Amino acid sequence: MQRILALAAAGLAALTLYALALADEPVVIKFSHVVAENTPKGQMANKFKELVEEKTGGAVVVEVYPNSQLFGDDKVLEAMLLGDVHMAAPALSKFSRYTDVLALYDLPFLFEDMDAVDRFQQSEQGQAMLSSVSKKGLIGLGYLHNGMKQLSSSKPLRVPEDAKGLKFRIMSSEVLEAQFEAIDAAPLKKPFSEVFTLLQTRAIDGQENSWSNIYSKKFFEVQPYITESNHGLLDYMVVTSKELWMGLSDEQRAQIKEALDESLAFGNEVAAQKAIEDKQKIAESGRSEIIELTPAQRAQWVEVMRPVWKQFEMEIGPELIEAAYQANEG
Ligand code: SIN
Repeated sequence: MQRILALAAAGLAALTLYALALADEPVVIKFSHVVAENTPKGQMANKFKELVEEKTGGAVVVEVYPNSQLFGDDKVLEAMLLGDVHMAAPALSKFSRYTDVLALYDLPFLFEDMDAVDRFQQSEQGQAMLSSVSKKGLIGLGYLHNGMKQLSSSKPLRVPEDAKGLKFRIMSSEVLEAQFEAIDAAPLKKPFSEVFTLLQTRAIDGQENSWSNIYSKKFFEVQPYITESNHGLLDYMVVTSKELWMGLSDEQRAQIKEALDESLAFGNEVAAQKAIEDKQKIAESGRSEIIELTPAQRAQWVEVMRPVWKQFEMEIGPELIEAAYQANEG
């Protein structure tokens, strides 16, 4: 029944787009995201709005809703299939109900740096993964970076043993759950919009995120320690629904894709800058101590977390894992 309603709503959305095109009304694309505007995704979305409206001469208008104003990441994809929102860029970790393969990006210590991530995402296999959600009525239009994740905590974390028994908020991903279980910590799946309060009230002990999110959402003000672990990746996939996409004219699709590609390149530059600048701002604030790991300490985290790869090898595919790992070679 739910599926019939979803299909009916999506059909109606496509008809509405078609009718708007005939009536010369602008097509309105609602773009929902959960982060602040001064982040790679926030800036990319605003740039996308500017470029789409410029390239289509106002025939397509983009409304950007930041900070979970419209939908949190737990609801946005369902809402997209119902036609209530048209574009979003959830973290790759948040697609587990739609595809198995994107879980690849959550494997701990898979990529050594963002250049390796770029090499893999631009490869044939990386690009093919964008279509992994198409059976579910979604279209992956491109990847956007945020950056490597760090571990913030109420206690200093130098070796995995330090995290034993601590509660960490995670995104809705089985791989991330296994990663924290591997260090004997307690992972809790919670929406991004709740993280600050959970940390502030000490309902949880820590979380993992990029420098940009730790800074823009002020997690550093309520977390006295941040371990520069670079243990995982926080990246996004920009998605839309098939109904929205197929309801546009060929010309509009080409204009929107061009605008998106330019905005993604811009967003990736912002991400690279913010990874440096926001870390610096946190260090200068004096609110949180940044812990650098020695090579021997880092090796301990790798040793304990790497077995998680094996746990998910069959779901993700051993060849895909190998191809992603090889991207570290340059
Ligand atoms: C985001 O960057 O979109 C949110 C990441 C998170 O949920 O931790």
